[in-house]
Amino acid sequence: MQNKVKELKLRLGLLSQKMYFTLSYKLNFAEWDVSAAQPDLVKLVNSGRLPGKRVLDIGCGLGDNAIYMATEGYDVTGIDYVTSGIKVARKRASKTNTCINFGVADAFSLSSFKNEFDIVTDFGLYHNVPAGKLPLYLDNITKVLKPGGFFIIQSFGSGAPKSRFGPRLVTEPELHKVFGLPWEILEIQPAEYTNRDGVSVPALLSIIKFH
Ligand SMILES: C[S@@+](CC[C@H](N)C(=O)[O-])C[C@H]1O[C@@H](n2cnc3c(N)ncnc32)[C@H](O)[C@@H]1O
Repeated sequence: MQNKVKELKLRLGLLSQKMYFTLSYKLNFAEWDVSAAQPDLVKLVNSGRLPGKRVLDIGCGLGDNAIYMATEGYDVTGIDYVTSGIKVARKRASKTNTCINFGVADAFSLSSFKNEFDIVTDFGLYHNVPAGKLPLYLDNITKVLKPGGFFIIQSFGSGAPKSRFGPRLVTEPELHKVFGLPWEILEIQPAEYTNRDGVSVPALLSIIKFH
C-alpha cells in the first residue's frame, strides 16, 4: 500500500511538471529561454574535449543549445516532451543555416534510438528528474550513447535558490553516488545557468563518460 502511494505521488509530480513546462512555453514564462546557447556549453565545445559529432540534446526546450551545436558542425537531434516547445525550436532552427532532427519524445522512453550518439547533452532536465526515477532515466541514456560517449549535464547546484516544487539542487556527492559503473565522472565543474533576466544561477557542469 505504501509503495502504491509513493508511486502515485511520483506520477502526480511528473504530471504537474509536464504541465508546468507546457504552460511555460504557451504563456511565455520559461525563464531559461535566453534565445542563445548556454555559455558553459559554448566554453565546453570550444575546449575541443567532446568526442565525435553525433549529439542528442535531451529536454532541448526551444532548441538554442541544439542550434548552436549544429552551427558548430555537430549532427544534432533534439528532443523534448512538450510539442509546442519543439515547434518553436523548429521555427528558430529554420531561421539558421542548420539541419536538426527535432522530435517530441519522453526522456524516460528512448527505445527508438539505439546507441547512436557520441554525446548526450542535458541542460536543465536532470535536476527535474525525481530521485526515484533516476535509474530509469539513466537506463535510457545508456541505450542511446555509444560506449566511450559523453553525457554532459548542467544542473542547478547547491548555491541555487531552493524552491519546494522546483528542481533538485544537485551536489557532487549525489553525482558520485548515482554515476557508478558503467559511468565514469571525468569532471564536475562549478557553472552558471543563465536565465532570461540576466541572472546566473549557481550550477554544476558534469562531464561523464559511458563505458
Ligand atoms: C529547464 S528546461 C531547459 C530547456 C533547454 N535544455 C535549455 O537549456 O534551454 C527543461 C526542459 O526539459 C524538458 N523535459 C522535462 N522532462 C522531460 C522528459 N521526461 N522528457 C523530455 N523532455 C523533458 C522540458 O519540457 C523542458 O523543455
